[in-house]
Amino acid sequence: MSEIGIGPEGIALGVQRLSAGKLVAFPTETVYGLGADALSADAVAQVFALKGRPSNNPLIVHIADESMARRVVDGWTPQATTLAKAFWPGPLTLVLPRASCVPDIVTGGGTTVAVRCPEHPVALALIESFGNPIVGPSANPSGYISPTIPEHVRDAFDADDLLVLDGGHCRAGIESTVLDLSTGTPTILRLGVIGAHRIQETLGVEIVVHQHRPETDEARSPGLIGAHYQPGTPARMVSRDELAQTPSSAALVAWSIDAHPNGGELIKMPSSVGAYAQAIYRALHEADRVPGTEIWIESPPSPNDDDERAIAAALDERLRRATHA
Ligand code: TXA
Ligand code: MG
Repeated sequence: MSEIGIGPEGIALGVQRLSAGKLVAFPTETVYGLGADALSADAVAQVFALKGRPSNNPLIVHIADESMARRVVDGWTPQATTLAKAFWPGPLTLVLPRASCVPDIVTGGGTTVAVRCPEHPVALALIESFGNPIVGPSANPSGYISPTIPEHVRDAFDADDLLVLDGGHCRAGIESTVLDLSTGTPTILRLGVIGAHRIQETLGVEIVVHQHRPETDEARSPGLIGAHYQPGTPARMVSRDELAQTPSSAALVAWSIDAHPNGGELIKMPSSVGAYAQAIYRALHEADRVPGTEIWIESPPSPNDDDERAIAAALDERLRRATHA
């Protein structure tokens, strides 16, 4: 596996690999993505194979701008234009009816496609230079913690053929908001940094935050239910009051104290919600490397405004699933 910094050579090598049907891991403002030519079923099949991802879990197609998005969507809407103008490039993924050029494997056989324009110069340069959309699931084995630094990608896969473009630490640290525009009512399928309040303000209509139910939602978005974002070590969320009971054998991820109360390993977290979100996956990777029986995670700090409340809700969802038995 090779890792290469940003710059024209890195992008050129990335484009060469994508054109040859190979995989390129790339940085985004949320987490690292595992890229492949979105219009090549063979290239996309390698992404599913490397991640061990169930074939019915669709991938997000990363595009450089609205006009590229329109190439993979058949049924673009005025609401999509409004949101693209307001939030792209940025951590908002839009689900819309798919165009026929999109291979079935990308959409999990479904009738919609998810499109997102990432706000990272390396990601944008890669897509622009390649000239075609690229798929980009988070670059982790299916179900494991998402990567926010290139080392996470390198450590997760034993793949000689994978180029990792190094864009440093991802800014937001948790995945994009996924908004379904393919039904009558705009519906958030995955909470993220961009909150429902901001989408609502921008569209001027009520939107819905979908409450996932395992019995009925398997088909709609199978990646959005049950255990996910999980360390190999069993993890649990605890309140501030419970921290004193952390066993010394448990790695502790906490923001309100400066030392493990019983002599074990502390991974110190920031006390503001945005910085906490940026740091959480890196902290979980680190905690997972501590030899121990458990990971204890202190509940994140309280939000102070609507933007922080949106991030806190997204974090809560990620941590519930990371600690799901
Ligand atoms: O921030 C992000 O979105 C990152 C970066 C790399 O862009 N990507 C990412 O991809 O998180 P992934 O594959 O790890 O998560 C995408 C989620 C999955 O839960 C999948 O089920 C859902 O989006 N999804 C993809 N296409 C969909 C579709 N057509 N309809 C409904 N959900 C979809
Ligand atoms: Mg993922």
